[in-house]
Amino acid sequence: MVKYNAEYGREDYCGTLREKDIGRHVAVCGWVSRMRDLGSLIFIDLRDREGIVQCVFDESCGKEIFDLAFSARSEYVLKITGTVRERASKNPKLPTGNIEILSDGIRIFSKSETPPFEISDGIDVNDQLRLKYRYLDLRRASLQESIRLRHRITQIARNYFDGEGFLEIETPILTKSTPEGARDYLVPSRVHPGRFYALPQSPQQYKQILMIAGFDRYIQIARCFRDEDLRADRQPEFTQIDLEMSFVGVDDVIAVNEGFLKQIFKEILSIDVELPLPRITWREAMDRFGSDKPDLRFGMEIKDISSVAENCGFKVFSDAVKAGGTVRLITVPGGASKFTRKEIDSLSEYVKTYRAKGLAWYRMAEETTSSFAKFLTPSETEEILGVAQAKQGDLVLIIADGDELTALTALGSLRCEVAKRLGLMEPGDYKLLWVTEFPLLEYSEEEKRYVAIHHPFTAPMDEDIDMLKTDPGRVRSKAYDIVLNGTELGGGSIRIHDTDLQTTIFEALGFTKEEAKERFGHLLEAFRYGAPPHGGLAYGLDRLCMLLSGRDSIRDVIAFPKVQNASEPMTSCPSEVEGKQLRELSIGITAENNK
Ligand code: AMO
Ligand code: AMP
Repeated sequence: MVKYNAEYGREDYCGTLREKDIGRHVAVCGWVSRMRDLGSLIFIDLRDREGIVQCVFDESCGKEIFDLAFSARSEYVLKITGTVRERASKNPKLPTGNIEILSDGIRIFSKSETPPFEISDGIDVNDQLRLKYRYLDLRRASLQESIRLRHRITQIARNYFDGEGFLEIETPILTKSTPEGARDYLVPSRVHPGRFYALPQSPQQYKQILMIAGFDRYIQIARCFRDEDLRADRQPEFTQIDLEMSFVGVDDVIAVNEGFLKQIFKEILSIDVELPLPRITWREAMDRFGSDKPDLRFGMEIKDISSVAENCGFKVFSDAVKAGGTVRLITVPGGASKFTRKEIDSLSEYVKTYRAKGLAWYRMAEETTSSFAKFLTPSETEEILGVAQAKQGDLVLIIADGDELTALTALGSLRCEVAKRLGLMEPGDYKLLWVTEFPLLEYSEEEKRYVAIHHPFTAPMDEDIDMLKTDPGRVRSKAYDIVLNGTELGGGSIRIHDTDLQTTIFEALGFTKEEAKERFGHLLEAFRYGAPPHGGLAYGLDRLCMLLSGRDSIRDVIAFPKVQNASEPMTSCPSEVEGKQLRELSIGITAENNK
């Protein structure tokens, strides 16, 4: 590293000093984490991005310096010089805990008001306050660590993909609005009154056009904007590691990305990921786990008892099957003693939030109890328990529904909820898998048309193309997701590179020729001039960082995140703008919208 000039003269980071430095004269700069005055001794714990070191002042430094040290308060910014020595009372909790600096100089660069909260991990502070003073919260070791981890992950991505021949290319932030998926953030044009740019939901169309332009392999650490509701793993503004490749099929995209994941896990967590990663189809994921992003850290796979249930005496079960639905279950090993009646009732309420109508159960405690066994013959019960592979001590949870996907998703969510309540998700356990062959389209009751599950440029599977016109809902696609511990880390697909097929898809999506031309004309036109077969993928960088740093929210890996209502407490944006600005943009705010 290039040395600093003498005026500031910082030679070492506080947090990197160790026993090997004993005897060295050092200069450190940082913030006062804590100051203790013991009369003839002053201790200042000085903090920088690498950690904290204890600096001691005694009379050997002279009165002037001693008095300056005495005036230091929390969060003052100082330079301290002195000699590293062994510490008398060691602090095993600090990496620098075996040493201290016997100080001979101090300079106060700036003072600080008393901070609104103590800057230390494990302190209970209201989130709104933390975010208003984000720069203070960011001084905490754990946030410093997660922001640095993010830097490392980004560097590994850049280096890995560079090594694989990917070119980093920037795509525009002011783009054309093509609403499909989330709502767009719009930017009014001053030069073209009444017209708007949209901020990109992803660089999807540009990266495909870069393939048509012949760049062959593209990567971008891309900022994306989606006006959708916030959740722990969703922000309106987030970052993708976005890539696209030419002349590839599903296996090629997967192979390159498995290499990346292996390297990330090795370098960040020292974990050797075994390749190839497991791959299951969307159908299998739904059947076995009731989710398109299954968490493989625990078992409790879903079993189908529809054939037993169809003719049994319990109408809830038989009616569901007769209505074209299904009856499915999970078995919670040892669950009989872990879930009381009251807790089972709360699970029953839980599944109702996923539109299940109820939860039937069979609890094999010392005395067996069940919500439905009285309606069944002993042999029917026996058969169900056989499919469930249930044994003494287990709890069997069953959902019947006239709609198969409702039963599966409710049971899939229940499976995760039960695992959470039983603490089955071990920290440090990472289970990656690919989910492939997603359906291409799904019917939207709201829009009364089919909508693309991934996006409208995703290629259907070759063997299903014929069904596009006859049975669009059953067409599978060449889309894949990479899933980590029940979170969708990334997703992508092989794209359509043929104008005719793209037109057929737009028709299946219910767009007229004019609508398709208006929205995607530029892409359709580009396809007419030689499009290579291509495909790609985008990771949610924030989610990757969240999971690798063991956090529960992507907020903890974003320097300046937004809160629930999409505002940012530190700068108080969004904010009102001056009338002049609005007039220049030919925009009027109606009173109603302005509430
Ligand atoms: P998709 O919409 O699946 O695909 O997004 C890819 C990944 O981005 C992350 N992600 C988000 N992270 C934080 N906040 C959000 N609001 C948010 N939305 C998505 C997820 C997701 O898996 N262009 C395609 C990719 C492609 O086909 O190549 C796309 O954007 O981790
Ligand atoms: P009931 O006949 O309504 O008293 O229900 C008997 C049991 O069946 C209760 O435990 C209900 O929670 C359960 N139950 C009701 N509807 C369903 C359903 N769709 N799937 C599974 N169990 C259900």
